[in-house]
Amino acid sequence: MGARIVVLISGSGSNLQAFIDAAEGPDCAFEISAVISNKADAFGLERARRAGIATAHIDHRQFPDRESFDAELRDCVAGFSPDLVILAGFMRILTPVFVGPFEGKMLNIHPSLLPKYPGLNTHQRAIDAGDQRAGATVHFVSQELDGGPPVIQASVAIKENDSADDLAKRVLEQEHRIYPLAAQWFAEGRLRLGEQGALLDGEALPATGVAYSTADSGQP
Ligand code: GRF
Repeated sequence: MGARIVVLISGSGSNLQAFIDAAEGPDCAFEISAVISNKADAFGLERARRAGIATAHIDHRQFPDRESFDAELRDCVAGFSPDLVILAGFMRILTPVFVGPFEGKMLNIHPSLLPKYPGLNTHQRAIDAGDQRAGATVHFVSQELDGGPPVIQASVAIKENDSADDLAKRVLEQEHRIYPLAAQWFAEGRLRLGEQGALLDGEALPATGVAYSTADSGQP
């Protein structure tokens, strides 16, 4: 039995699919216990059903405030006794009611080279700024939006005339590589959140996490 993962989604779930595919590998150290969405029509729920994974839907619009939604979500997630919670395109800002109980055992992926561009429209912002590279970062979730300690980061070159969509597609391919990898490290007990930041094999990680080597990253 591997580490138990609960995945939270709001949309397409292509990152979820990367986890589903990874979980089928012989050396995978995790299993997906459940997929939870705040949107009933999220395609990710369909992906989960096809893979025989338990699903739940909690409609945030049925709650008077963020805290009461977060309390329901917290209880639903806790019911699956996860070792790790994965936010994969979960488009809700979370309050301490949810973040607190899962601190140190919750990861998010954000489509920018954090600390650049927390929040939305990250690829357009990178293009508008004239950046040479864009990317994605897996990080531990803290109370600060997109602000928790980074674990791993992958970057791609921004090409002339790239639209935000062009860039998003290339970055997404990298997301599908680095996110299950970070979860594998966690499931193997190699990755944890220390007092000062993320630790891999007991060593403090750089401020932007492990630099994942992509085809055009210029790294060995
Ligand atoms: C990804 O771009 C991810 O970085 C962001 O939300 C998107 C989710 O895509 N947090 P998908 O639903 O996994 O396809």
